[in-house]
Formats: sequence, C-alpha cells, structure tokens
Amino acid sequence: MKELILLVLVAAQYSITHAQSDSCGDQRFDVIALVDGSASIDQADFQKVRNSLEMFPASLGLNGTDRRFGVAVFSSNVEVPIPLSSNVTALMSDIASLQQPRGFTNTALGLTRVIEEFENFGIPENKQFIIVITDGKSARKTATLAAALRAKNMSISVFAVGVGNGVDELELAGIASDSSQVIKADDFDQLTPKIVGVIAMVCNDPDVVTDDGPCFGCILRNGIGYLPTRDCDKFLQCQLSLAFTVKQCPFGTHWDQSALTCNYIGKVNCRNDVCTAPTPPATYKTNGNCSQYYQCVNGLSHTRTCPEGQSYNDVLGYCIPNSDCKPEPPVPKACHMTAILNEPCFYNWNVYGLVYKMPCPGGTAYDQSVCACSTSVFTSCTPVCKPIVHIDFNGPEPGEYGNYGAVIQNGLAYFNGRSSIKIPRLANVDFRDRITIYTRYRAEFPSNTTQQAVVANGDCNEASTVAIVADGQSTEFTAQSVSRSPQTLTTATTNTWKEVVYKLKSGTFSGEDGLQLDSTPFGGLLQVSQCAFQVGHGEGFNDFRGWVDYVIITLCDGGPTATTTPRPPHTATAATATTRRPPHTSG
Ligand SMILES: *[C@@H]1O[C@H](CO)[C@@H](O)[C@H](O)[C@H]1NC(C)=O
Ligand SMILES: *[C@@H]1O[C@H](CO)[C@@H](O)[C@H](O)[C@H]1NC(C)=O
Ligand SMILES: *[C@@H]1O[C@H](CO)[C@@H](O)[C@H](O)[C@H]1NC(C)=O
Ligand SMILES: *[C@@H]1O[C@H](CO)[C@@H](O)[C@H](O)[C@H]1NC(C)=O
Ligand SMILES: *[C@@H]1O[C@H](CO)[C@@H](O)[C@H](O)[C@H]1NC(C)=O
Repeated sequence: MKELILLVLVAAQYSITHAQSDSCGDQRFDVIALVDGSASIDQADFQKVRNSLEMFPASLGLNGTDRRFGVAVFSSNVEVPIPLSSNVTALMSDIASLQQPRGFTNTALGLTRVIEEFENFGIPENKQFIIVITDGKSARKTATLAAALRAKNMSISVFAVGVGNGVDELELAGIASDSSQVIKADDFDQLTPKIVGVIAMVCNDPDVVTDDGPCFGCILRNGIGYLPTRDCDKFLQCQLSLAFTVKQCPFGTHWDQSALTCNYIGKVNCRNDVCTAPTPPATYKTNGNCSQYYQCVNGLSHTRTCPEGQSYNDVLGYCIPNSDCKPEPPVPKACHMTAILNEPCFYNWNVYGLVYKMPCPGGTAYDQSVCACSTSVFTSCTPVCKPIVHIDFNGPEPGEYGNYGAVIQNGLAYFNGRSSIKIPRLANVDFRDRITIYTRYRAEFPSNTTQQAVVANGDCNEASTVAIVADGQSTEFTAQSVSRSPQTLTTATTNTWKEVVYKLKSGTFSGEDGLQLDSTPFGGLLQVSQCAFQVGHGEGFNDFRGWVDYVIITLCDGGPTATTTPRPPHTATAATATTRRPPHTSG
C-alpha cells in the first residue's frame, strides 16, 4: 500500500504525447464524462477531478476532427455544463471553471440525462462513450442499473471509474459495459493515470497497460514504458510483464514525462516540487551524496553543495562539519557493451537482456578497456581516411542523421533556431587526440552575438566536449580534454559564409574559418561524450539560425586542404547561394 501511494501521479505533469499519437488517429467518437459532484467529494479532490478531465481534450486529438468531448455533472440534480465539442481551447477553459453542485449521488438521473444528450446531439458515425466518475454508491441502485442497461441497448460503451473505498463494486460492474471497463482508483491522486488508461482504451491503443495496478495507463513501446510518480525525482518503469520498478532520478533532476528522461529541475514543470508547498522548507534533501542538498528559491528546488569537510544535516537543515563526508573515488561506469571475438569492427550491445550486434564508426574499433569504439586500437575496419560522417545535404543520406525540423533545400540545411540534426552513432566514440570537422555555415543574423551551436556533441544534459559555435562575426572552437578545462579558440572574419575547419592533430588544436587560423597546443585526450553530435544545437549554447552547407568528420591526419579546392562565387542571398562541393578527402 505504501508503494502504491508513492506511485500516485500528478495531473498536470502527465504528458499526453503518446496517448494521442497512434491509433486515436482516424477514429470517430463522442465521449461524455459523467462526473459525480456530490458533497462527499471535498474541494481539493474536485480540483483533482478537473485536472484529470483535462486529459480528455488534451489527448483525444479532437482539434480538426469530428470527435467530440463533453462533461455532465450529477449530484441530486444533473446538468450538462460542457456540451459535446471539438474546440480544445474552449473545453480546457470550461473544465477549469467547472462547478461542483454538492448534493447527493443520483447516478441514475445522470446516466439518463447523458443518454438523452446522445439521442439529441449524437452523430450516427460516431461511437459513443460515457465515462462515469464517482466516489460512492448511487442513491437509487435499481434505477442506476436500469439506466445503464438502456445505455448498453443503445450500444453506448460505458466505463465506470470508482474512486476510494466507498464505491459499490457490484454497482460499478453493473454500470460498465464490460468488466475490463470497471476502473478503480485508491484515491483522487490516482485518477489521472486511470483516466489516461481509459483514454488509451477509447482510442484503442494496443500498447497500453489496461490491467489494474501501478502501471495502469502506461503506454509501452517495445515492451517498456514510464510513468511519473508523486515524487518529482522518481519515476516508474513498467514492463510488458507488468513488473514495475520505482527509479530515482539523479540529484538535481526531475522526471520529465514528455522527454521520458530525468531532466534538470528548471526544465521540468513538476507541480509537486517540495518547494511549491504552502510553507516550503528553506532547505531539504532527498538524494545525492552527503554534501548535496536542495534550497527552495521562489518555489523551485535549487541544488547546493556543502563546503568541503561538511555534510548536510537533515534535522538542522544546514551544513555541519563532518570529516566522514569525503568525495568518493569515481565508480567505473557499468559497461553494456562487449567485444566480439575476431570482429574488432563490431561490438555486442546489451539492452534489457537483448543483445544487438553494432558496428563501430569507420576508422574506429571496439576497445573494451574504455567500453567504446576508439581510434586507439589498430584497425583495418575501414580505410582510415574515409570520413566517418559525410553530410552535404545534396541527396538522401539514409541513416546518417535524424532531422528535427531543419529544412533541406538546394543542397543546404536551414535551421530556424529551434531545429537540429542529430548524428547518434557518434555518441560515446573515443576520438582520443585526433578529429577533424569541416563545415560551412552562414548565420542568418551575423549581427546577433549570442553563441549559437553549429556543430556540437552535447545534447543529453552533458556539456559539449567538441563545439563549433557561431558568435556574430566570430567562430568559436571548443575542445574539452580529459585532464584540463575546455580550450577555446576564436576566429573572426567578415565572410558571409564561414568555411570552418576544426582540427585536433599531433598535440595541436586549431580552428580555421577560411581566412583566419587560431591554434594552441593540446595535451591529453579528448573527453568522451555520451551524447550524439548535433548540427544546429548543443548543450550550453543557443540553437543556430542560418544555413549549413556540409558537415564532414574525419579521423585522418591529412584531410582536404581548402586551397586546392576552388572557391565558388558567393551570392548575396542564401536561397540562391551556390553550394560548394564539400572538400574531398585525400586518402
Ligand atoms: C486547431 O486547429 C486549427 C486549424 O488546424 C489551428 O489553427 C489551431 O491552432 C488548433 N488549435 C489547437 C488548440 O491545437
Ligand atoms: C474555440 O473556442 C474559443 C474560446 O471559446 C474561441 O475563441 C474560438 O473561436 C473557438 N474556435 C472555433 C474554431 O470555434
Ligand atoms: C432494446 O431496444 C429495443 C428496441 O430498439 C427494445 O425492443 C428492447 O426492449 C430494448 N431492451 C432493453 C433491455 O431496453
Ligand atoms: C558530491 O557530489 C558533488 C557533485 O558531483 C561533488 O562536487 C562533491 O565533491 C561530492 N561530495 C562528496 C562528499 O562526495
Ligand atoms: C539573437 O539570437 C538569440 C538566439 O536565437 C535570440 O534569442 C535573440 O532574440 C536574438 N537577438 C536579436 C537582437 O535578434
């Protein structure tokens, strides 16, 4: 039971992106929620009812379709304050101002009134659903069951959602069209996930967990799915077997249901943040090491670390001297990859007990000692000088990248400040001390001196270890070694198109933008990033606005030389800009 309470979800936080995606697509239906507004439900709980009702317009995909949703409220009397409608905006605001009549529980009258509503305003093509939400037994059970029979006779599909211990289970079973449509929630906090499950059933989404239990309403993809919990920093992992695990997000992060990942606290809107309580604590601790705690600032949790030699004391609420609180040596990361005998160019990737054979990027081979594909191993996997990435936007480049909103036209990719291109297979590659990136970009607003990522490898809440950044007329080049703070080079030319070469080679880090060159000695090895390379986006920078002509990444020592490639004439507007052929690699 304790466990269950922990798993109770929060309304607003529940993301509906999955529920609406697939099978709800072209189905036609009308849904009326018949809500118990009797006096046994207190104001706070009725607010939770409103919150869960919002899931319907939010996730039934009504806008622009013939599907409709409406709400009827019953207590001693019955009203239809929200008639059937497809207008999501109007529905949302009507639900927010839904009144609670606070009489007794006349379910029979409610059902009869909703059946009438369908008789008068139903569309023949639309399947009809009634979702009864109640916390008690009806005042006139026989009449209730008779009304339910009438609904069944009209082929109206009825769900009976009972909240709390006061419900009469036999009556719920009599109201519902099918035993799978009897839904029980322990309390009103559990209503939203239950409603999400109901919506998935209305939408006929096959991948949703409909068996009652903590995972109810969880949408599974490839046998696994996630749900938020009442605690912002925990989430529930559900499996096909309906086994579930409560997982803890790392210190400083909250579960982000829309991204299906733990995300920085400021980026997640979790209504249950400890600091949003009416009288929040000044500081508190949930997880993290002995020196880490949270401080409430303006209703939001902020991460804090005690000075060295001190630990956070839960009872006192501040840091006290504690010689036992010392930084622990870093724990080696669990490696989910294993080498394959006699096949250095591949590795086995172990996910959830399944093993996938994966290729290493060209020029690298699998190195178990670093749990990654690396250039450190002698390899004949592919000719060493073949680029490991060659994207020129001149034709289809299947599998090379994922495009998130960039417009590819005339051999250029246009980024609007919210789009990106992701090259996932370069995540976790150990480049050691050599990598060369060729790119050609043009900023849309060169007078804007905010730092915009052109190419970078930070996309997963980790700082970029490699970055090419547009900053007004300047280009900045960043390289992060394992042992030192990041090194940054800058070039500045007035060229409209910047032909950029980022190079790490023989202990030298250099950045070039066609006319200018900046360089510095670079000791040690490049820090491995868990993140993919991205074009147009990078953690720690703004997203890029402008055009990119090509991105070529090689591990070669030589590589193309700009001087041997003829420079095309540049024209004033990007749409007509001639796309230069990307440099060819020599070896
Ligand atoms: C509904 O659809 C219309 C037309 O496609 C669109 O203009 C409007 O922004 C949409 N509204 C919502 C709330 O999605
Ligand atoms: C939807 O409702 C809003 C708010 O009531 C209204 O302003 C808007 O015109 C409606 N849209 C349509 C398409 O009826
Ligand atoms: C169902 O409806 C039919 C007419 O459509 C009627 O003859 C029958 O009596 C109804 N049954 C019940 C149980 O209401
Ligand atoms: C706790 O974690 C923070 C952040 O990783 C680190 O800076 C600090 O040294 C750690 N302290 C202890 C005592 O482990
Ligand atoms: C500069 O670019 C940033 C990031 O795209 C944007 O937020 C900002 O409004 C721009 N500033 C001007 C003056 O255009």
